[in-house]
Amino acid sequence: MSIDSLTSPTLKHLREQWWDHAFTQFLVERLRPRPGNRILDVGCGEGYAEVSLGRLHLSQVQLAGVDLVPAKVVQARAETAAHNQRVWLAAADAARLPFVDASFDSTYCVAVLQHLRDVEPAVAELARVTRESGRVVVVEPDNSARYVYSSVRAGAAVFAAAAQMLAARVEAIGDASETAVGPTVPERFVRHGIGVLEVRVFPVSRTQLGAPADDVWAERRRAVAALTRDVKDGAMTSLANQYLTLLGVYEREAREAGRSFVEIQSTSLFATVGQRLEGRG
Ligand SMILES: C[S@@+](CC[C@H](N)C(=O)[O-])C[C@H]1O[C@@H](n2cnc3c(N)ncnc32)[C@H](O)[C@@H]1O
Repeated sequence: MSIDSLTSPTLKHLREQWWDHAFTQFLVERLRPRPGNRILDVGCGEGYAEVSLGRLHLSQVQLAGVDLVPAKVVQARAETAAHNQRVWLAAADAARLPFVDASFDSTYCVAVLQHLRDVEPAVAELARVTRESGRVVVVEPDNSARYVYSSVRAGAAVFAAAAQMLAARVEAIGDASETAVGPTVPERFVRHGIGVLEVRVFPVSRTQLGAPADDVWAERRRAVAALTRDVKDGAMTSLANQYLTLLGVYEREAREAGRSFVEIQSTSLFATVGQRLEGRG
């Protein structure tokens, strides 16, 4: 599991770097699929979970997925069809799922609640559409908790500047989503009638030994362009320029350090496993 704070503020664009076979195994074991079960993925994106679970050839299990963005649903349909899978997919809001109560044997969502302004309605909906004693699994990061170490002088400043630029972007685009949602999920489960069985923390880390290759620096610069493209704000532009200057200094120092250069980054994903309590709703 890997992440680079200098290319993305959250894990959202880096899924293929942390979603490994062990994670798929964990998910499927906790969802406890049995023949005849229906399993719902809320915020399915492009169908990565469905394709990963499909590789395990779960017998007689009906996978379903919804996503707010219709284009994602179209992509998920194409992805699952390309893998000869039959998955029920539709566009829907996590806060208003188009299913009657207790429609699913288990439900899950991965890296979705972090994007919501109000997480509670989505957790309430997960609880509502899961049958009694059914499993609910929610996997979310705490994007506010990052550890970074760099062996060269400009390291601390460049990571601080990246954080400042990202905070300015959040402010400029009015994105008040709950980026630190991961560890808050257990208490939310309890509020909505889901008993908490387990919290598993998945460390997501990246260790760079020796100066990064050219493509790492190119990617870091490209990320700044992508983050600033849709924000026409003077303060943001000046923070981005300061950051790019520091990134240049950082790159030079890293190259000078050569094989002795070390950069360590880590954050965590919190997987909360719950079970819908009996006699609710
Ligand atoms: C980081 S992606 C994760 C996708 C998928 N769960 C995965 O891990 O591969 C977040 C997804 O949540 C979806 N999303 C955001 N808000 C949503 C909402 N209110 N209801 C349903 N899906 C939502 C986005 O469209 C996006 O596809």
